[in-house]
Amino acid sequence: MLDDVLEGLSGRQKTLPSRLLYDARGSDLFEDITALPEYYPTRTETAILNAAAPDLSRRIGEGAVLVEYGAGASVKTRILLDALEGLAGYVPIDVSDDMLAKTKPLLQQDYPELPIHPVVGNFLVPPPLPDIDPRARRVGFFPGSTIGNLDDADIETFLNGAAEELGPDGLLVLGVDLKKSPDILIPAYDDAQGVTADFNRNLLVRINRELGADFNLDAFRHEARWNEAESRMEMHLVSLADQSVTIGGRRFDFAAGETIHTENSRKFDLDELDAVLAAGAWSREATYTDPGQLFSVLLLGRA
Ligand code: TRP
Repeated sequence: MLDDVLEGLSGRQKTLPSRLLYDARGSDLFEDITALPEYYPTRTETAILNAAAPDLSRRIGEGAVLVEYGAGASVKTRILLDALEGLAGYVPIDVSDDMLAKTKPLLQQDYPELPIHPVVGNFLVPPPLPDIDPRARRVGFFPGSTIGNLDDADIETFLNGAAEELGPDGLLVLGVDLKKSPDILIPAYDDAQGVTADFNRNLLVRINRELGADFNLDAFRHEARWNEAESRMEMHLVSLADQSVTIGGRRFDFAAGETIHTENSRKFDLDELDAVLAAGAWSREATYTDPGQLFSVLLLGRA
């Protein structure tokens, strides 16, 4: 973690690894984000999944194993757990072991027959799956447009890794956020209550705590920017003054107005996405969307 942080802050455009957003506090804040009035993705995707559930269940068939990449609190997963018949298992993969440990008993209570095998790990390098029926069809679940938080190289790595892990008759249920007006996008990533700002600044809180750094939290402001050329929302932390910060014995200088780029959230055009999917060994088998075309859930099969 120290090496990644030092490297990110050493470039001309300072960056921090976005996976560090999701410690216990960050995961809780992100759950709060998903309930914000401005944050349309979660409730839109939930509505799409509810409407698509019978069709997904029919296409997936009985007795599959569901593998979720970046499971968090497994909230949307419940729609699939309710709809899919005779599931042979559920494998939530997440970097937060706290989150996995908290969620498992809650899920087990509601799905007493379901074998649940949490795996702590970074889904980019799909960790080995636990011992589950090798004959069961494997269905990946990658909701929340988390694919939009990855760069092109990581998307290809992830899709190919998932293809290998899920096998030749594997399927992938993928949530993707669609391109839309910045008038909708910017508030979604900079809410009135400031929850997103706290989520972003929690990176600095974490680095102070875990790496003994001395970021002055009041001296950085959250900013959400639309980058049209890259079709993405960008999250930054803007330094409010000329200042310096010490981490691991190294000093980093910030000019007033200089930013740390902390996350990207790419917004997709489905035609453009098809090419990306093909390079990752997948193709669209079914496409579900909402009446406002804000978000889309795709069922992918192997190309
Ligand atoms: N997958 C989420 C998204 O791109 C992650 C996210 C939501 C996020 N709000 C954020 C990341 C704010 C950083 C900052 O929509």
